[in-house]
Amino acid sequence: MRKKTEQKSTTKRSVKSTAKKAAPVKKATVPAEKAEPVKEAAVPAEKAEPVKEAAVPAEKAEPVKEAAVPAEKAVPVKQAAVVTEAPVVQPDLGPRRSVAFIGSECYPFVKTGGLGDVMYALPKALAKLNLDVKVILPRYKCIPQKFQEKMEYRGSFYMNLCSDGKQYYVGIMEYQEDGVVYDFIDNDEFFSWGNPYTNLIDDIPKFCYFAKASLAALNYLDWTPDVVHCHDWQAALVPLYLRTCFQDTNVGRAIAVLTIHNLKFQGIYDRKMIQYWSGLPDYVFNKDCMIQNWLDANMLKGGIAYSNKVTTVSNTYAWEIQTEEYGEGLAAHLRYHSNKILGIVNGIDTDIWNPATDKLLASDYDDKSVIEKKKANKKALQESLGLDVDDHKMVIGLISRLTNQKGLDLVNAVIPGIMDEHTQVVVLGTGDAWYEDTFRYYENKYKGSFCAYIAYNENVAHNIYAGCDALLVPSRFEPCGLTQLIAMRYGSVPIVRETGGLKDTVWPYNMFDNTGNGFTFDRYESGLLYDAINRAKTLYFEHRECWDNMVVRDMEKDVSWEKSAKQYKDMYVELTPRS
Ligand code: ADP
Ligand code: GLC
Repeated sequence: MRKKTEQKSTTKRSVKSTAKKAAPVKKATVPAEKAEPVKEAAVPAEKAEPVKEAAVPAEKAEPVKEAAVPAEKAVPVKQAAVVTEAPVVQPDLGPRRSVAFIGSECYPFVKTGGLGDVMYALPKALAKLNLDVKVILPRYKCIPQKFQEKMEYRGSFYMNLCSDGKQYYVGIMEYQEDGVVYDFIDNDEFFSWGNPYTNLIDDIPKFCYFAKASLAALNYLDWTPDVVHCHDWQAALVPLYLRTCFQDTNVGRAIAVLTIHNLKFQGIYDRKMIQYWSGLPDYVFNKDCMIQNWLDANMLKGGIAYSNKVTTVSNTYAWEIQTEEYGEGLAAHLRYHSNKILGIVNGIDTDIWNPATDKLLASDYDDKSVIEKKKANKKALQESLGLDVDDHKMVIGLISRLTNQKGLDLVNAVIPGIMDEHTQVVVLGTGDAWYEDTFRYYENKYKGSFCAYIAYNENVAHNIYAGCDALLVPSRFEPCGLTQLIAMRYGSVPIVRETGGLKDTVWPYNMFDNTGNGFTFDRYESGLLYDAINRAKTLYFEHRECWDNMVVRDMEKDVSWEKSAKQYKDMYVELTPRS
Protein backbone atom coordinates (compact mmCIF):
# COMPACT_ATOMS: atom_id res chain seq x y z
CA MET A 1 0.00 0.00 0.00
CA ARG A 2 1.52 3.30 -1.02
CA LYS A 3 0.55 6.65 0.23
CA LYS A 4 -1.18 8.88 -2.23
CA THR A 5 -2.89 12.24 -1.93
CA GLU A 6 -5.89 12.31 -4.15
CA GLN A 7 -8.15 14.76 -5.86
CA LYS A 8 -10.53 16.41 -3.49
CA SER A 9 -14.22 16.11 -3.91
CA THR A 10 -16.29 19.04 -5.00
CA THR A 11 -19.56 17.92 -3.54
CA LYS A 12 -20.95 17.64 -0.05
CA ARG A 13 -20.43 13.90 -0.01
CA SER A 14 -18.31 12.28 -2.65
CA VAL A 15 -19.01 8.89 -4.11
CA LYS A 16 -16.78 6.11 -2.98
CA SER A 17 -15.69 2.88 -4.47
CA THR A 18 -16.55 0.22 -1.96
CA ALA A 19 -15.20 -2.85 -3.65
CA LYS A 20 -13.46 -4.88 -0.96
CA LYS A 21 -10.27 -5.98 -2.62
CA ALA A 22 -6.75 -6.65 -1.52
CA ALA A 23 -4.08 -4.04 -2.22
CA PRO A 24 -3.02 -2.24 -4.39
CA VAL A 25 -4.87 0.76 -3.12
CA LYS A 26 -7.08 2.22 -5.79
CA LYS A 27 -8.11 5.78 -6.38
CA ALA A 28 -11.74 5.88 -5.40
CA THR A 29 -13.00 9.42 -5.27
CA VAL A 30 -14.46 10.65 -8.54
CA PRO A 31 -12.11 13.39 -9.69
CA ALA A 32 -13.92 16.68 -10.00
CA GLU A 33 -12.76 17.25 -13.54
CA LYS A 34 -14.18 13.92 -14.63
CA ALA A 35 -17.58 14.57 -13.16
CA GLU A 36 -20.09 14.87 -15.93
CA PRO A 37 -21.77 18.22 -16.40
CA VAL A 38 -24.76 18.47 -14.15
CA LYS A 39 -27.87 18.20 -16.27
CA GLU A 40 -30.68 20.64 -15.84
CA ALA A 41 -33.33 18.62 -14.07
CA ALA A 42 -36.13 21.10 -13.64
CA VAL A 43 -37.31 20.81 -17.25
CA PRO A 44 -40.73 22.31 -17.79
CA ALA A 45 -43.09 19.46 -18.46
CA GLU A 46 -44.02 20.58 -21.94
CA LYS A 47 -40.36 20.53 -22.98
CA ALA A 48 -39.69 17.08 -21.64
CA GLU A 49 -37.86 14.88 -24.09
CA PRO A 50 -39.14 11.39 -24.74
CA VAL A 51 -37.88 9.10 -22.01
CA LYS A 52 -34.95 6.99 -23.12
CA GLU A 53 -35.06 3.23 -23.10
CA ALA A 54 -32.92 1.76 -20.34
CA ALA A 55 -29.97 -0.44 -21.15
CA VAL A 56 -31.76 -3.76 -21.00
CA PRO A 57 -30.23 -6.79 -22.68
CA ALA A 58 -32.23 -7.20 -25.88
CA GLU A 59 -33.22 -10.78 -25.23
CA LYS A 60 -34.64 -9.91 -21.85
CA ALA A 61 -36.35 -6.68 -22.75
CA GLU A 62 -40.07 -6.70 -22.19
CA PRO A 63 -42.20 -4.37 -24.24
CA VAL A 64 -42.47 -1.16 -22.27
CA LYS A 65 -46.06 -0.51 -21.40
CA GLU A 66 -47.99 2.40 -22.81
CA ALA A 67 -47.64 5.68 -21.04
CA ALA A 68 -51.20 6.24 -20.00
CA VAL A 69 -51.13 3.98 -16.91
CA PRO A 70 -51.02 5.97 -13.66
CA ALA A 71 -47.94 4.88 -11.74
CA GLU A 72 -49.78 3.79 -8.65
CA LYS A 73 -51.96 1.46 -10.69
CA ALA A 74 -49.19 -0.17 -12.69
CA VAL A 75 -50.15 -3.82 -13.10
CA PRO A 76 -47.64 -6.62 -12.85
CA VAL A 77 -46.47 -8.06 -16.15
CA LYS A 78 -46.76 -11.76 -15.61
CA GLN A 79 -44.01 -12.94 -17.92
CA ALA A 80 -41.50 -10.51 -16.36
CA ALA A 81 -41.87 -12.01 -12.94
CA VAL A 82 -38.87 -14.06 -11.89
CA VAL A 83 -39.99 -16.17 -8.99
CA THR A 84 -37.84 -15.59 -5.92
CA GLU A 85 -37.60 -18.61 -3.72
CA ALA A 86 -38.66 -17.74 -0.21
CA PRO A 87 -36.05 -18.78 2.36
CA VAL A 88 -37.12 -21.83 4.37
CA VAL A 89 -39.15 -20.74 7.39
CA GLN A 90 -37.50 -21.63 10.65
CA PRO A 91 -40.16 -21.90 13.36
CA ASP A 92 -37.95 -20.79 16.23
CA LEU A 93 -37.21 -17.48 14.55
CA GLY A 94 -40.56 -16.00 15.44
CA PRO A 95 -43.14 -14.29 13.24
CA ARG A 96 -42.37 -13.49 9.62
CA ARG A 97 -42.94 -10.07 8.08
CA SER A 98 -41.97 -8.54 4.78
CA VAL A 99 -40.08 -5.25 4.68
CA ALA A 100 -39.07 -3.01 1.79
CA PHE A 101 -36.03 -0.85 2.57
CA ILE A 102 -35.90 2.31 0.48
CA GLY A 103 -32.79 4.49 0.53
CA SER A 104 -30.27 6.34 -1.58
CA GLU A 105 -27.10 4.32 -0.97
CA CYS A 106 -26.01 0.83 0.02
CA TYR A 107 -22.64 -0.90 0.33
CA PRO A 108 -21.12 -2.48 -1.78
CA PHE A 109 -22.93 -0.79 -4.67
CA VAL A 110 -22.55 2.82 -3.59
CA LYS A 111 -21.52 4.29 -0.24
CA THR A 112 -20.68 7.78 0.94
CA GLY A 113 -20.90 7.12 4.68
CA GLY A 114 -22.62 5.14 7.41
CA LEU A 115 -26.03 5.10 5.69
CA GLY A 116 -24.50 2.85 3.04
CA ASP A 117 -23.20 0.48 5.72
CA VAL A 118 -26.58 0.28 7.47
CA MET A 119 -28.55 -0.26 4.24
CA TYR A 120 -26.34 -3.29 3.63
CA ALA A 121 -25.90 -4.80 7.08
CA LEU A 122 -29.35 -4.34 8.63
CA PRO A 123 -31.38 -6.06 5.86
CA LYS A 124 -28.88 -8.91 5.96
CA ALA A 125 -29.31 -9.25 9.74
CA LEU A 126 -33.12 -9.04 9.38
CA ALA A 127 -33.15 -11.77 6.73
CA LYS A 128 -31.49 -14.04 9.30
CA LEU A 129 -34.39 -13.29 11.67
CA ASN A 130 -36.93 -14.75 9.24
CA LEU A 131 -37.91 -11.48 7.61
CA ASP A 132 -38.49 -11.20 3.89
CA VAL A 133 -36.42 -8.19 2.89
CA LYS A 134 -36.18 -6.23 -0.33
CA VAL A 135 -33.92 -3.20 -0.72
CA ILE A 136 -34.86 -0.58 -3.29
CA LEU A 137 -32.10 1.66 -4.60
CA PRO A 138 -31.41 3.98 -7.51
CA ARG A 139 -29.42 2.36 -10.28
CA TYR A 140 -26.63 4.94 -10.39
CA LYS A 141 -24.12 4.78 -13.20
CA CYS A 142 -21.28 4.61 -10.65
CA ILE A 143 -22.33 1.15 -9.39
CA PRO A 144 -19.38 -1.08 -10.28
CA GLN A 145 -19.70 -3.06 -13.48
CA LYS A 146 -19.34 -6.40 -11.68
CA PHE A 147 -22.70 -5.78 -9.96
CA GLN A 148 -24.37 -4.23 -13.01
CA GLU A 149 -23.52 -7.37 -14.97
CA LYS A 150 -25.28 -9.61 -12.46
CA MET A 151 -28.50 -7.59 -12.35
CA GLU A 152 -31.56 -9.15 -13.94
CA TYR A 153 -34.18 -7.18 -15.79
CA ARG A 154 -37.56 -7.50 -14.02
CA GLY A 155 -39.67 -5.23 -16.17
CA SER A 156 -40.44 -1.62 -16.89
CA PHE A 157 -43.36 0.78 -17.14
CA TYR A 158 -44.12 4.46 -17.34
CA MET A 159 -45.12 6.45 -14.30
CA ASN A 160 -46.62 9.88 -13.94
CA LEU A 161 -44.70 12.28 -11.72
CA CYS A 162 -45.05 16.07 -11.38
CA SER A 163 -48.27 17.98 -10.86
CA ASP A 164 -48.95 17.94 -14.62
CA GLY A 165 -48.65 14.15 -14.80
CA LYS A 166 -45.50 14.03 -16.91
CA GLN A 167 -44.53 10.43 -17.76
CA TYR A 168 -41.24 8.84 -16.73
CA TYR A 169 -39.70 5.52 -17.53
CA VAL A 170 -39.16 3.15 -14.58
CA GLY A 171 -37.01 0.09 -15.14
CA ILE A 172 -36.43 -2.56 -12.46
CA MET A 173 -33.14 -4.43 -12.30
CA GLU A 174 -32.71 -7.12 -9.66
CA TYR A 175 -29.76 -8.55 -7.76
CA GLN A 176 -29.78 -11.04 -4.89
CA GLU A 177 -27.32 -11.87 -2.14
CA ASP A 178 -27.41 -13.24 1.43
CA GLY A 179 -31.18 -13.71 1.42
CA VAL A 180 -31.75 -10.08 0.47
CA VAL A 181 -33.28 -8.99 -2.84
CA TYR A 182 -32.04 -5.67 -4.25
CA ASP A 183 -34.24 -3.91 -6.80
CA PHE A 184 -32.60 -1.04 -8.62
CA ILE A 185 -34.77 1.67 -10.12
CA ASP A 186 -33.45 2.41 -13.55
CA ASN A 187 -33.81 5.76 -15.26
CA ASP A 188 -30.99 7.32 -17.25
CA GLU A 189 -32.33 10.80 -16.95
CA PHE A 190 -32.11 10.89 -13.16
CA PHE A 191 -29.29 8.52 -12.32
CA SER A 192 -26.92 8.96 -15.19
CA TRP A 193 -23.85 10.43 -13.56
CA GLY A 194 -21.31 9.27 -11.04
CA ASN A 195 -22.21 10.85 -7.76
CA PRO A 196 -25.46 9.96 -5.98
CA TYR A 197 -25.71 13.48 -4.57
CA THR A 198 -25.00 16.60 -6.59
CA ASN A 199 -26.94 19.69 -5.57
CA LEU A 200 -30.48 20.23 -4.36
CA ILE A 201 -31.78 21.58 -7.67
CA ASP A 202 -31.03 18.23 -9.24
CA ASP A 203 -31.42 16.04 -6.19
CA ILE A 204 -34.97 17.08 -5.29
CA PRO A 205 -36.56 15.99 -8.61
CA LYS A 206 -34.36 12.88 -8.55
CA PHE A 207 -35.53 11.76 -5.12
CA CYS A 208 -39.19 12.73 -5.73
CA TYR A 209 -38.99 10.42 -8.71
CA PHE A 210 -37.17 7.73 -6.71
CA ALA A 211 -39.69 7.73 -3.84
CA LYS A 212 -42.68 7.42 -6.13
CA ALA A 213 -41.03 4.95 -8.50
CA SER A 214 -40.09 2.68 -5.56
CA LEU A 215 -43.74 2.29 -4.56
CA ALA A 216 -44.88 1.94 -8.16
CA ALA A 217 -42.24 -0.78 -8.60
CA LEU A 218 -43.55 -2.70 -5.57
CA ASN A 219 -47.05 -2.67 -7.08
CA TYR A 220 -45.68 -3.62 -10.46
CA LEU A 221 -43.78 -6.56 -8.95
CA ASP A 222 -46.93 -7.49 -7.06
CA TRP A 223 -44.88 -7.58 -3.86
CA THR A 224 -46.84 -5.96 -1.04
CA PRO A 225 -44.66 -5.53 2.04
CA ASP A 226 -46.01 -5.35 5.57
CA VAL A 227 -43.65 -2.47 6.22
CA VAL A 228 -42.06 0.13 3.99
CA HIS A 229 -38.93 1.31 5.77
CA CYS A 230 -37.45 4.47 4.31
CA HIS A 231 -34.20 6.19 5.15
CA ASP A 232 -33.32 9.89 5.39
CA TRP A 233 -34.74 12.76 3.36
CA GLN A 234 -34.06 11.11 0.01
CA ALA A 235 -36.80 8.56 0.74
CA ALA A 236 -38.90 10.74 3.06
CA LEU A 237 -41.70 11.34 0.54
CA VAL A 238 -42.47 7.62 0.51
CA PRO A 239 -44.89 7.79 3.50
CA LEU A 240 -46.70 10.74 1.87
CA TYR A 241 -47.10 8.95 -1.46
CA LEU A 242 -48.20 5.84 0.41
CA ARG A 243 -51.09 7.68 2.10
CA THR A 244 -52.10 9.77 -0.92
CA CYS A 245 -51.62 8.54 -4.52
CA PHE A 246 -51.05 4.92 -3.47
CA GLN A 247 -53.63 4.75 -0.69
CA ASP A 248 -56.06 2.59 -2.65
CA THR A 249 -53.48 0.30 -4.18
CA ASN A 250 -51.84 -2.83 -2.79
CA VAL A 251 -48.76 -1.13 -1.39
CA GLY A 252 -51.04 1.39 0.36
CA ARG A 253 -51.71 -1.30 2.97
CA ALA A 254 -48.12 -1.14 4.24
CA ILE A 255 -47.02 0.53 7.47
CA ALA A 256 -44.48 3.36 7.00
CA VAL A 257 -41.30 3.59 9.07
CA LEU A 258 -38.82 6.42 8.56
CA THR A 259 -35.28 6.29 9.94
CA ILE A 260 -33.38 9.53 10.45
CA HIS A 261 -29.67 8.88 10.03
CA ASN A 262 -28.73 12.52 10.00
CA LEU A 263 -31.16 15.35 10.77
CA LYS A 264 -28.78 17.88 9.25
CA PHE A 265 -29.97 16.93 5.75
CA GLN A 266 -33.69 17.47 5.21
CA GLY A 267 -34.36 18.15 1.52
CA ILE A 268 -35.57 21.73 1.87
CA TYR A 269 -36.34 23.80 -1.22
CA ASP A 270 -38.76 26.23 -2.72
CA ARG A 271 -42.30 25.04 -2.07
CA LYS A 272 -43.42 25.46 -5.66
CA MET A 273 -40.59 23.39 -6.99
CA ILE A 274 -41.24 20.50 -4.60
CA GLN A 275 -44.97 20.77 -5.14
CA TYR A 276 -44.49 20.59 -8.90
CA TRP A 277 -42.02 17.70 -8.95
CA SER A 278 -43.65 15.57 -6.27
CA GLY A 279 -47.14 16.02 -7.67
CA LEU A 280 -48.40 15.53 -4.10
CA PRO A 281 -51.84 16.94 -3.29
CA ASP A 282 -52.07 20.55 -2.11
CA TYR A 283 -53.31 19.61 1.35
CA VAL A 284 -49.93 18.16 2.43
CA PHE A 285 -48.38 21.58 1.82
CA ASN A 286 -49.37 23.02 5.16
CA LYS A 287 -47.23 24.20 8.06
CA ASP A 288 -47.64 21.00 10.11
CA CYS A 289 -46.48 18.81 7.27
CA MET A 290 -44.37 19.94 4.32
CA ILE A 291 -44.20 23.70 4.73
CA GLN A 292 -41.43 25.53 6.49
CA ASN A 293 -40.92 29.29 6.72
CA TRP A 294 -43.97 29.90 4.51
CA LEU A 295 -42.12 29.67 1.22
CA ASP A 296 -40.13 26.46 1.54
CA ALA A 297 -41.10 22.81 1.62
CA ASN A 298 -39.21 20.28 3.75
CA MET A 299 -39.31 16.66 2.60
CA LEU A 300 -38.08 15.16 5.87
CA LYS A 301 -40.61 17.18 7.87
CA GLY A 302 -43.42 15.82 5.70
CA GLY A 303 -42.08 12.28 6.04
CA ILE A 304 -42.01 12.56 9.83
CA ALA A 305 -45.64 13.73 9.86
CA TYR A 306 -46.85 10.87 7.65
CA SER A 307 -44.86 7.93 9.07
CA ASN A 308 -46.32 5.45 11.52
CA LYS A 309 -42.98 5.29 13.32
CA VAL A 310 -39.85 7.42 13.20
CA THR A 311 -36.60 5.85 14.33
CA THR A 312 -33.14 7.30 14.77
CA VAL A 313 -29.87 5.46 15.08
CA SER A 314 -29.26 5.79 18.83
CA ASN A 315 -31.25 6.49 21.96
CA THR A 316 -29.35 9.60 22.87
CA TYR A 317 -29.79 11.09 19.39
CA ALA A 318 -33.54 10.32 19.59
CA TRP A 319 -33.65 12.56 22.62
CA GLU A 320 -31.15 15.16 21.37
CA ILE A 321 -33.05 15.92 18.16
CA GLN A 322 -36.02 17.04 20.21
CA THR A 323 -33.89 19.83 21.72
CA GLU A 324 -33.27 23.19 20.04
CA GLU A 325 -29.51 22.58 20.13
CA TYR A 326 -29.61 19.44 17.97
CA GLY A 327 -33.04 19.77 16.36
CA GLU A 328 -31.85 21.48 13.15
CA GLY A 329 -35.01 23.59 13.13
CA LEU A 330 -37.31 20.58 13.55
CA ALA A 331 -37.20 20.17 17.33
CA ALA A 332 -40.77 21.38 17.90
CA HIS A 333 -42.10 19.22 15.04
CA LEU A 334 -40.26 16.20 16.47
CA ARG A 335 -41.52 16.89 19.98
CA TYR A 336 -45.04 17.02 18.59
CA HIS A 337 -44.48 13.55 17.11
CA SER A 338 -42.44 12.28 20.07
CA ASN A 339 -44.81 9.39 20.81
CA LYS A 340 -43.73 7.70 17.60
CA ILE A 341 -39.97 8.30 17.91
CA LEU A 342 -37.70 5.41 18.83
CA GLY A 343 -33.89 5.17 19.06
CA ILE A 344 -32.23 1.91 17.99
CA VAL A 345 -28.47 1.92 17.98
CA ASN A 346 -26.58 0.80 14.86
CA GLY A 347 -24.28 -2.19 14.71
CA ILE A 348 -21.65 -3.17 12.16
CA ASP A 349 -21.38 -6.13 9.84
CA THR A 350 -19.02 -8.38 11.75
CA ASP A 351 -18.20 -10.48 8.66
CA ILE A 352 -16.86 -7.55 6.70
CA TRP A 353 -15.27 -6.02 9.77
CA ASN A 354 -13.48 -9.04 11.18
CA PRO A 355 -9.77 -8.74 12.02
CA ALA A 356 -9.50 -12.53 12.22
CA THR A 357 -10.34 -12.97 8.53
CA ASP A 358 -9.65 -9.55 7.03
CA LYS A 359 -7.63 -10.16 3.87
CA LEU A 360 -6.52 -6.54 3.72
CA LEU A 361 -4.45 -6.74 6.89
CA ALA A 362 -0.74 -7.47 7.21
CA SER A 363 -1.54 -9.90 10.00
CA ASP A 364 -4.92 -11.27 11.07
CA TYR A 365 -5.72 -11.46 14.76
CA ASP A 366 -8.37 -12.07 17.39
CA ASP A 367 -8.77 -11.03 21.03
CA LYS A 368 -6.15 -13.61 22.09
CA SER A 369 -3.46 -12.49 19.67
CA VAL A 370 -4.27 -8.80 19.30
CA ILE A 371 -1.52 -7.40 21.51
CA GLU A 372 1.21 -9.20 19.62
CA LYS A 373 -0.27 -9.03 16.11
CA LYS A 374 -1.15 -5.36 16.25
CA LYS A 375 2.58 -4.67 16.12
CA ALA A 376 2.85 -6.17 12.62
CA ASN A 377 -0.16 -4.14 11.48
CA LYS A 378 1.25 -0.97 12.98
CA LYS A 379 4.56 -1.56 11.21
CA ALA A 380 2.82 -2.16 7.87
CA LEU A 381 0.75 0.99 8.34
CA GLN A 382 3.75 3.13 9.21
CA GLU A 383 5.69 1.80 6.23
CA SER A 384 2.89 2.27 3.75
CA LEU A 385 2.05 5.79 4.88
CA GLY A 386 5.60 7.07 5.09
CA LEU A 387 5.65 7.38 8.89
CA ASP A 388 8.71 6.58 11.00
CA VAL A 389 8.59 2.87 11.69
CA ASP A 390 8.63 2.51 15.44
CA ASP A 391 6.60 0.10 17.51
CA HIS A 392 6.89 2.27 20.62
CA LYS A 393 5.00 5.22 19.19
CA MET A 394 1.34 5.64 19.90
CA VAL A 395 -0.58 5.91 16.62
CA ILE A 396 -3.81 7.89 16.74
CA GLY A 397 -6.16 7.53 13.76
CA LEU A 398 -9.07 9.54 12.39
CA ILE A 399 -11.31 8.20 9.59
CA SER A 400 -14.03 10.60 8.63
CA ARG A 401 -15.88 12.75 6.20
CA LEU A 402 -14.07 16.04 6.69
CA THR A 403 -17.07 18.18 7.61
CA ASN A 404 -18.18 20.47 10.37
CA GLN A 405 -20.17 17.61 11.99
CA LYS A 406 -17.07 15.65 12.89
CA GLY A 407 -15.40 17.98 15.40
CA LEU A 408 -12.41 18.70 13.22
CA ASP A 409 -11.92 22.24 14.49
CA LEU A 410 -11.23 20.67 17.90
CA VAL A 411 -8.73 18.29 16.31
CA ASN A 412 -7.08 21.16 14.50
CA ALA A 413 -6.75 23.06 17.76
CA VAL A 414 -5.11 20.20 19.69
CA ILE A 415 -2.68 18.86 17.07
CA PRO A 416 0.25 21.13 18.01
CA GLY A 417 -0.21 20.12 21.65
CA ILE A 418 -0.35 16.36 21.13
CA MET A 419 2.42 15.97 18.56
CA ASP A 420 5.57 14.84 20.37
CA GLU A 421 8.35 12.34 19.69
CA HIS A 422 6.17 9.49 21.01
CA THR A 423 3.01 10.20 19.03
CA GLN A 424 1.90 9.76 15.43
CA VAL A 425 -1.39 10.85 13.83
CA VAL A 426 -3.04 9.43 10.70
CA VAL A 427 -6.01 11.18 9.08
CA LEU A 428 -8.03 9.49 6.33
CA GLY A 429 -10.85 11.53 4.78
CA THR A 430 -12.20 13.87 2.15
CA GLY A 431 -14.52 16.81 2.39
CA ASP A 432 -14.22 20.52 3.05
CA ALA A 433 -11.16 22.04 1.41
CA TRP A 434 -10.27 23.96 4.54
CA TYR A 435 -9.90 20.79 6.62
CA GLU A 436 -8.09 18.95 3.84
CA ASP A 437 -5.56 21.77 3.55
CA THR A 438 -5.11 22.05 7.31
CA PHE A 439 -4.25 18.37 7.58
CA ARG A 440 -1.89 18.63 4.60
CA TYR A 441 -0.19 21.51 6.40
CA TYR A 442 0.34 19.36 9.50
CA GLU A 443 1.70 16.51 7.40
CA ASN A 444 4.31 18.86 6.07
CA LYS A 445 5.04 20.32 9.47
CA TYR A 446 5.37 17.00 11.31
CA LYS A 447 7.11 14.91 8.67
CA GLY A 448 7.29 11.24 9.56
CA SER A 449 4.79 11.67 12.40
CA PHE A 450 1.64 13.00 10.72
CA CYS A 451 -0.09 11.56 7.69
CA ALA A 452 -2.95 13.28 5.83
CA TYR A 453 -4.41 10.71 3.45
CA ILE A 454 -6.90 12.88 1.62
CA ALA A 455 -9.03 10.33 -0.18
CA TYR A 456 -11.83 7.87 0.30
CA ASN A 457 -10.24 4.45 0.46
CA GLU A 458 -11.70 1.31 2.04
CA ASN A 459 -8.39 -0.59 1.95
CA VAL A 460 -6.53 2.13 3.80
CA ALA A 461 -9.39 2.39 6.29
CA HIS A 462 -9.09 -1.32 7.19
CA ASN A 463 -5.35 -0.91 7.70
CA ILE A 464 -5.76 2.13 9.92
CA TYR A 465 -8.41 0.45 12.09
CA ALA A 466 -5.98 -2.47 12.58
CA GLY A 467 -2.70 -0.56 12.83
CA CYS A 468 -3.58 2.35 15.09
CA ASP A 469 -3.75 2.32 18.88
CA ALA A 470 -6.55 4.84 19.31
CA LEU A 471 -9.19 6.41 17.05
CA LEU A 472 -10.55 9.94 17.41
CA VAL A 473 -14.27 10.69 17.03
CA PRO A 474 -14.79 14.08 18.70
CA SER A 475 -17.99 14.93 16.79
CA ARG A 476 -20.06 18.07 17.28
CA PHE A 477 -23.07 15.76 16.83
CA GLU A 478 -23.15 12.08 15.89
CA PRO A 479 -26.45 10.28 15.28
CA CYS A 480 -24.70 6.95 15.85
CA GLY A 481 -21.23 6.75 14.36
CA LEU A 482 -19.77 3.53 13.05
CA THR A 483 -16.05 4.27 13.17
CA GLN A 484 -15.90 3.92 16.95
CA LEU A 485 -17.63 0.52 16.65
CA ILE A 486 -15.23 -0.67 13.96
CA ALA A 487 -12.29 0.64 15.99
CA MET A 488 -13.35 -1.41 19.02
CA ARG A 489 -13.83 -4.50 16.86
CA TYR A 490 -10.22 -4.03 15.69
CA GLY A 491 -8.85 -3.45 19.21
CA SER A 492 -8.27 0.28 18.75
CA VAL A 493 -9.38 2.42 21.65
CA PRO A 494 -11.92 5.13 20.77
CA ILE A 495 -11.57 8.70 22.04
CA VAL A 496 -15.00 10.25 21.61
CA ARG A 497 -17.23 13.13 22.56
CA GLU A 498 -20.25 12.10 24.64
CA THR A 499 -22.93 12.82 22.08
CA GLY A 500 -25.50 10.73 20.18
CA GLY A 501 -24.44 7.18 19.48
CA LEU A 502 -20.90 7.82 20.70
CA LYS A 503 -22.31 8.27 24.19
CA ASP A 504 -24.40 5.11 23.88
CA THR A 505 -21.60 2.84 22.63
CA VAL A 506 -18.38 3.90 24.36
CA TRP A 507 -18.19 3.54 28.15
CA PRO A 508 -15.57 5.86 29.66
CA TYR A 509 -12.49 4.24 31.14
CA ASN A 510 -12.63 4.00 34.91
CA MET A 511 -9.14 3.90 36.41
CA PHE A 512 -10.37 2.66 39.80
CA ASP A 513 -11.89 -0.58 38.66
CA ASN A 514 -10.31 -0.85 35.22
CA THR A 515 -13.54 -0.88 33.27
CA GLY A 516 -14.72 0.93 30.15
CA ASN A 517 -13.97 0.93 26.42
CA GLY A 518 -12.46 4.30 25.66
CA PHE A 519 -11.87 7.91 26.62
CA THR A 520 -14.67 10.43 26.52
CA PHE A 521 -15.34 14.13 27.08
CA ASP A 522 -18.61 16.01 27.26
CA ARG A 523 -18.70 19.69 26.27
CA TYR A 524 -17.60 20.69 22.79
CA GLU A 525 -14.29 22.28 23.80
CA SER A 526 -10.81 21.67 22.49
CA GLY A 527 -9.38 21.70 26.02
CA LEU A 528 -11.56 18.72 26.92
CA LEU A 529 -10.49 16.79 23.83
CA TYR A 530 -6.88 17.59 24.67
CA ASP A 531 -7.41 16.28 28.17
CA ALA A 532 -9.07 13.06 26.90
CA ILE A 533 -6.15 12.39 24.52
CA ASN A 534 -3.67 12.99 27.33
CA ARG A 535 -5.53 10.60 29.62
CA ALA A 536 -5.29 8.01 26.85
CA LYS A 537 -1.58 8.68 26.39
CA THR A 538 -0.93 8.40 30.10
CA LEU A 539 -2.55 4.98 30.25
CA TYR A 540 -0.80 3.85 27.07
CA PHE A 541 2.69 4.91 28.15
CA GLU A 542 2.50 4.44 31.90
CA HIS A 543 0.07 1.58 32.54
CA ARG A 544 0.35 -0.56 29.43
CA GLU A 545 -1.19 -3.58 31.09
CA CYS A 546 -4.40 -1.66 31.81
CA TRP A 547 -4.36 -0.33 28.24
CA ASP A 548 -3.94 -3.84 26.84
CA ASN A 549 -6.84 -5.09 28.95
CA MET A 550 -9.02 -2.38 27.48
CA VAL A 551 -7.97 -3.39 23.95
CA VAL A 552 -9.09 -6.94 24.66
CA ARG A 553 -12.33 -5.72 26.30
CA ASP A 554 -13.07 -3.66 23.21
CA MET A 555 -12.58 -6.65 20.94
CA GLU A 556 -14.91 -8.70 23.11
CA LYS A 557 -17.66 -6.09 23.07
CA ASP A 558 -20.72 -6.98 21.01
CA VAL A 559 -20.92 -4.38 18.24
CA SER A 560 -22.86 -6.62 15.85
CA TRP A 561 -26.37 -6.02 14.56
CA GLU A 562 -27.80 -8.94 16.48
CA LYS A 563 -29.54 -7.10 19.32
CA SER A 564 -30.59 -4.07 17.30
CA ALA A 565 -31.95 -6.12 14.39
CA LYS A 566 -34.19 -7.90 16.94
CA GLN A 567 -35.42 -4.52 18.14
CA TYR A 568 -36.31 -3.54 14.58
CA LYS A 569 -38.09 -6.84 14.12
CA ASP A 570 -40.07 -6.38 17.36
CA MET A 571 -41.06 -2.93 16.17
CA TYR A 572 -42.24 -4.24 12.78
CA VAL A 573 -44.26 -6.99 14.46
CA GLU A 574 -45.81 -4.58 16.94
CA LEU A 575 -46.82 -2.26 14.09
CA THR A 576 -48.40 -5.06 12.07
CA PRO A 577 -50.37 -7.22 14.52
CA ARG A 578 -52.02 -10.32 13.07
CA SER A 579 -55.53 -10.99 14.30
P1 ADP B 1 -21.04 9.20 8.63
O1 ADP B 1 -22.10 8.34 8.09
O2 ADP B 1 -21.56 10.39 9.36
O3 ADP B 1 -20.02 9.56 7.62
P2 ADP B 1 -20.27 6.87 10.24
O4 ADP B 1 -19.27 6.75 11.32
O5 ADP B 1 -21.64 6.40 10.52
O6 ADP B 1 -20.24 8.39 9.76
O7 ADP B 1 -19.81 6.01 8.98
C1 ADP B 1 -18.67 6.31 8.24
C2 ADP B 1 -18.35 5.10 7.36
O8 ADP B 1 -17.59 5.55 6.25
C3 ADP B 1 -17.49 4.05 8.06
O9 ADP B 1 -17.71 2.79 7.45
C4 ADP B 1 -16.06 4.55 7.76
O10 ADP B 1 -15.11 3.51 7.83
C5 ADP B 1 -16.26 5.03 6.34
N1 ADP B 1 -15.35 6.11 5.94
C6 ADP B 1 -15.44 7.43 6.24
N2 ADP B 1 -14.47 8.12 5.63
C7 ADP B 1 -13.75 7.23 4.93
C8 ADP B 1 -12.62 7.33 4.06
N3 ADP B 1 -12.05 8.49 3.80
N4 ADP B 1 -12.15 6.20 3.49
C9 ADP B 1 -12.75 5.01 3.75
N5 ADP B 1 -13.80 4.85 4.55
C10 ADP B 1 -14.31 5.94 5.12
C1 GLC C 1 -25.27 9.19 9.41
C2 GLC C 1 -24.68 9.66 10.71
C3 GLC C 1 -23.88 8.60 11.44
C4 GLC C 1 -24.58 7.26 11.40
C5 GLC C 1 -24.89 6.90 9.98
C6 GLC C 1 -25.59 5.55 9.86
O1 GLC C 1 -24.46 9.39 8.32
O2 GLC C 1 -23.89 10.82 10.53
O3 GLC C 1 -23.69 9.01 12.78
O4 GLC C 1 -23.76 6.27 11.99
O5 GLC C 1 -25.74 7.85 9.41
O6 GLC C 1 -26.79 5.51 10.57
